[in-house]
Amino acid sequence: MNEIRIITVDGPSGSGKGTLAQRLAAHLKWHFLDSGAIYRVLGLMVDRVDISVDSVGKIAELARSMPLSFDGERALLSGEDVTGEIRTETAGNQASKVAAIPEVRTALLAWQRDYAKPPGLVADGRDMGTVVFPQAQLKIFLTASPEERAKRRYKQLKEKGLGVNLAGLIEEIRERDERDSQRTAAPLKAAEDALTLDSTQLSIDEVFSQVVGKVHETFPDLSGI
Ligand code: C5P
Repeated sequence: MNEIRIITVDGPSGSGKGTLAQRLAAHLKWHFLDSGAIYRVLGLMVDRVDISVDSVGKIAELARSMPLSFDGERALLSGEDVTGEIRTETAGNQASKVAAIPEVRTALLAWQRDYAKPPGLVADGRDMGTVVFPQAQLKIFLTASPEERAKRRYKQLKEKGLGVNLAGLIEEIRERDERDSQRTAAPLKAAEDALTLDSTQLSIDEVFSQVVGKVHETFPDLSGI
C-alpha cells in the first residue's frame, strides 16, 4: 500500500470522537490532527481583533495567515499557550460561526492535508472523511444522543476546572449542532463509506476496542499493534 494511511473520526461535539481519535493515534503512534482546535483558535482571533463574524474576507485572510502551531496537545498562537481559552463552550460556538464560512474552510484545507504523513494520520473533526481526506481508508462517524453528549461535555469541562451550567450547555450544544449540520459548506454528516457508531450506551473502552478491530481489518499488517 503506497498511499498514506488515514483514519478519519467525525461526529458531533460530545460524541467522544476527540478522545477516541487521540487514543487511536497514540496507540498506533501515528500523527494526530485536531481540526476543531484550528477553528477554535481562529474564532478566538476574530474575537480578539474584534472583527464581526460577517466580515468574511477579513476572516479568511486571518485563516490564511494564522500564526498557529501545536506542541503535542498545546495550541500556541504566536507562541502564546491558548489551550485553556479555546476549550470553553463559548469558544466552540464562536468556532462554529467562523467554520460556516466557505472561504475559511478553503483557506485551511492545505494546512490540514499537510498532516497526512507516514506512518499514518488520525484526523478528528466534522468533515475529515467527506471533504479533507475523502481518500481515507477507514472512516468512523461517532454519534451519541444529545442528552448524553451534553452530560459528557459537562463532565469534561468541570474536570478542566471550567465553570459550566448544564441548561446553558445543552442550549449551546443544540445551537452548535444545528449550525454545523445545516451549513452549506462541508456540513456535519457521515461520509457514505463511513462506519457509524452510536456511543450512547458504550464506554470509551468499548468504542475503542470496536474501532481497533476495524483498524486491524483495514490494515491487516498492523496486527501486532
Ligand atoms: O471538534 P470541536 O468541538 O473542537 O470543533 C469546534 C467547532 O469547529 C465545531 O462545532 C465546528 O463548527 C467546527 N469544525 C468544523 N470542521 C471540523 C472541525 C471543527 O467545522 N473539521
